[in-house]
Amino acid sequence: MSDLVHAELQDGIAVLTIDNPPVNALSPGVWAALGEAIDRAAADPAVQAIVLHGAGATFVAGADIHSFKLLRTRDDALGRVTASHALLERIEDVAVPVVAAIHGNALGGGLELAMACHYRVATRDASVGQPEVLLGLIPGAGGTQRLPRLAGTALAIELCVEGVPLRAAKAQAAGILDQIIVGDLLAGAVAFARTRVATGQPPRKTRELPLDAAAGLAAVTAARGALKSRLPAPHAAIDAIEAALTGSFADGSRRERALFADCVVSIESRALRHLFFAEREATKVPDVPKSTPVTPIARAAVIGAGTMGGGIAMAYASAGIPVLLKDVDPVAVEHGMTTIRKNYESSVARGKLSPEAYAQTLAQITPTTTYDGFEQVDIVVEAVFEDMALKQATFAELGRVTKPGCILASNTSTLDLDEIGAASGRPSQVIGHHFFSPANIMKLLEIVRGRQTSAETIASSVALGKRLGKVSAVVGNCFGFVANRMLGYYMREAYLLLEEGASVPQIDGALTAFGMPVGPFGMQDIAGIDVGARIRQHLASVGKVRTEGPQSEIPDRLFALGRYGQKTGAGWYRYEAGSRNRIADPLIDALATEAAARRGVARQPISDDEIVARTMTALANEGARVLEDGYALRAGDIDVIYCYGFGFPRHRGGPMFYADTVGLPAVLARIEDYRARLGEHWQPASLVSQLAAAGRGFHDVTT
Ligand code: 3HC
Ligand code: NAI
Repeated sequence: MSDLVHAELQDGIAVLTIDNPPVNALSPGVWAALGEAIDRAAADPAVQAIVLHGAGATFVAGADIHSFKLLRTRDDALGRVTASHALLERIEDVAVPVVAAIHGNALGGGLELAMACHYRVATRDASVGQPEVLLGLIPGAGGTQRLPRLAGTALAIELCVEGVPLRAAKAQAAGILDQIIVGDLLAGAVAFARTRVATGQPPRKTRELPLDAAAGLAAVTAARGALKSRLPAPHAAIDAIEAALTGSFADGSRRERALFADCVVSIESRALRHLFFAEREATKVPDVPKSTPVTPIARAAVIGAGTMGGGIAMAYASAGIPVLLKDVDPVAVEHGMTTIRKNYESSVARGKLSPEAYAQTLAQITPTTTYDGFEQVDIVVEAVFEDMALKQATFAELGRVTKPGCILASNTSTLDLDEIGAASGRPSQVIGHHFFSPANIMKLLEIVRGRQTSAETIASSVALGKRLGKVSAVVGNCFGFVANRMLGYYMREAYLLLEEGASVPQIDGALTAFGMPVGPFGMQDIAGIDVGARIRQHLASVGKVRTEGPQSEIPDRLFALGRYGQKTGAGWYRYEAGSRNRIADPLIDALATEAAARRGVARQPISDDEIVARTMTALANEGARVLEDGYALRAGDIDVIYCYGFGFPRHRGGPMFYADTVGLPAVLARIEDYRARLGEHWQPASLVSQLAAAGRGFHDVTT
């Protein structure tokens, strides 16, 4: 018997336990061991029923996503899912009742396995779902055929197209689960199995349950009409479910397998699977082992009740952590609290937050203008103005007023964390917690380690990020860290494209068509043109520039004109009072024409492809430099930062994965072409040249 599936006979009931930590994923080995265990139990005359469950914290979280890498061709994929389908039908054909006992999660292949069992019982806190779509896939082990038979077509479509799991009570109401077990799951499942044996009835096969084809086809038509995604997987999920309604189980299964095979070899699915693992890797730091002690965070404080401080306080409150919100200015504190209340009230109005939860969450935030209570907090997050002298003064005070073990985090976006940390007198506890705006919503937390930041401070920040519901990536302390350092080059390319002849709406349009949620100019109108201008002013005052090479003068001219973006009613676009509709402004073309003349550039039409290629190449080339310099540990970390911090299209896998899909030799050729056409500032990062020469991609690189 394999280690991956254990079998035990308990008084006529065979208990089969899948044991593949951490989540009992169905690797090829688990499938094989499961087949053997089922066949052996089915052939044993002493076995009256079979109970299938998972060892550890969960039932089965799905097929082993790693193993999809081995499916290089569509035929490989068809072979794999054909074998899974056959095994699940073998389980369904077992003559004695087979009961799935679910705790934790039954997701993807896990739910498909459970649905091939004759009955399903679960703990109250269990969840079931078909999240394959989030990986660019559809269920490939019969999920699109059995789920509509258990739960009806409309719910099956919802689960497969949205990928959101159902909690046990809802799954029971929908017909997916037969019973909720209170108390010991295994004992309850064995007792349930005995009741099925006692009926003397043949076990119920899900694949033989009837389907309401008319209602189902109406649900299919409605779902197709409502589906906005242009990605292949959600459409394929509906197609496969439709096949369950129009043909036999065998026909539908064949269609599901073909659609799954198309999806699993698609670039979109590869990109999404890459991000699944990259997101989990990004918090792993070689010199911060898993055993590193973590500071328990029971109380927190935020300094600065402005845009970021208010959002950060909300993130803590929503995670149930009491937080002091301090500002020097009583009016700013009151203003911050009003904004926080309004944000939560809008969640209540949209039904996302109950009135009770609103009251409880708001009560976690205590506004203040003093340091009273700071001696009790376990972490302080500083979000005062972006000004080194002010941040240093603040950290000097924090070093005095907080207890020795307190973590001191800064939300600075560009300042040197080591300089800030030195002022506190205990730099080992100083770390960057770079949230993105709005901090209560945006998922990324860029965790910046300074030269002296301790392993414990890093490990505690990673654990805290998870508690706050953020996706974290640990990076080094360079100008702009990873996110904003690379953004500088992306924005510069957008400005230069404008000067060379493209228009603001064209550049934004090309990049939104590529998949960005908003183009570079629209984004800057939201964030504020003044922010970048002040950073450039500060850098100029210390003799530095944000990006070497040609600089566009247009952003500074807009700043001088008081056009800061949406907040002043004009920036790269014009805005009518009270509206966020972007209206193209001929003034920008006039400024671009002047700027081009001054630089001796002849303006001419530029294609959308060139816009995408230049901005994406700028990102990947600077990303390569970030990797070379060691400020990011892995190309995947950069991808995670861009997808969660700036909404880079997930189905393209992030800027570094996207460059790999273009091919690094092609990326290098583009850089050489730009150098010839546009100037010497285009130089390939040596990592790009090396990898291209070696026929490798960024995703072979770890440091
Ligand atoms: N395959 C391989 N590894 C998996 C996995 C899977 N299906 N699910 C989770 N893991 C790994 C994670 O990579 C992580 O590994 P690490 O510790 O080395 O980083 C570890 O398990 C723990 O995962 P999380 O950190 O995500 O743990 P959480 O407790 O936060 O979340 C979870 C648990 C909700 C199960 C979450 O991991 C999850 O959503 N997993 C993916 C579920 C999924 O998409 N299933 C469908 C797979 S595709 C499929 O089944 C196709 C089928 O139709 C044929
Ligand atoms: P903001 O101007 O909205 O808020 C700053 C707040 O700090 C003001 O309320 C001010 O009264 C308060 N303050 C100033 N001195 C103080 C002191 N000594 N003690 C207590 N409070 C003090 O600024 P914003 O946008 O919230 O930025 C704060 C920090 O976050 C900056 O370092 C910025 O670079 C960073 N950041 C900003 C992002 C954004 O999109 N706005 C994104 C990520 C980081």
